Amino acid sequence: MTNTIQAPDFEAIKQRQQQTWASGDFSVVAARIMLVAEHLVDTADLHAGWRVLDVATGSGNAAIAAARLGSQVVGVDYVPALLERGRKRAAAEGLEIELVEGDAEELPFPDASFDAVISVFGSMFAPDHARAAAELLRVCRPGGTIALASWTPDGFIGELFRTVSRHMPPPAGLQSPMLWGTEDHLHGLFGDQIESLDVTERAFTWRFTSAEELVTFFLEGVCRTRGHQAGRPRARPHRPREPLRPARRGECDRDSSDLHRGSSRQALTSSTPRGARSRHH
Ligand SMILES: C[S@@+](CC[C@H](N)C(=O)[O-])C[C@H]1O[C@@H](n2cnc3c(N)ncnc32)[C@H](O)[C@@H]1O
Repeated sequence: MTNTIQAPDFEAIKQRQQQTWASGDFSVVAARIMLVAEHLVDTADLHAGWRVLDVATGSGNAAIAAARLGSQVVGVDYVPALLERGRKRAAAEGLEIELVEGDAEELPFPDASFDAVISVFGSMFAPDHARAAAELLRVCRPGGTIALASWTPDGFIGELFRTVSRHMPPPAGLQSPMLWGTEDHLHGLFGDQIESLDVTERAFTWRFTSAEELVTFFLEGVCRTRGHQAGRPRARPHRPREPLRPARRGECDRDSSDLHRGSSRQALTSSTPRGARSRHH
């Protein structure tokens, strides 16, 4: 008897993921991780005047950080409400940023149209890793810069993912997003299409007063909230759409009480697509 491993249905998975990202208000989480975007644009050594794309920009953290450095920035994401939030933030700072709706696995831009392509915890969540990586390479000019911030498997978010997966297993065959936080996986994805790969590991500390606060924060920020769209004022406090049944909530709390003390690790990577021009010009 032969066992055939079925490839995951990436399109169906992506559709469900889009609904999940759209159902929460990720801008609440984004407000806490702004520092990561600042570190990434510095690590990427973006030049003033460069045309920069922020993939899966959400409410625009890295796009805004890049625009503050004088880059000409475009951000792309598939959740319109988060983009709207980003537009308001950019306007409040007097920054000109183009924020467009689109898929990280099918970027709506011509080949080699950016000097740098960046993503903070963005492309890593696309279900088809190879396709997302190919798109980063395609839209970045030869000799340009691709810079990514990715959670690592061994940090707090990696641990959180494992905890959540114990309660809600991911679709069979889907690769963990946390693999993007490992050098081996990046070499596998980009292969010989890049000239170099630099990896810097940094810690990011999440601060919560309790495990309960941690669970509520991530539930509201990432999924399952009701009556609230990102960017709109809240009529009332967030409530999970389907409150966890007490037993499961208890399990989650027990698991998360081990987590809320931890700090996250993230890998900041910078790579250069092969080509005629050098990275600095
Ligand atoms: C963890 S959030 C990070 C958002 C933002 N980069 C930040 O640092 O605040 C992940 C983002 O990726 C977006 N996203 C996930 N998969 C995507 C895809 N296939 N195409 C476009 N956006 C995607 C989600 O909508 C969400 O805004």
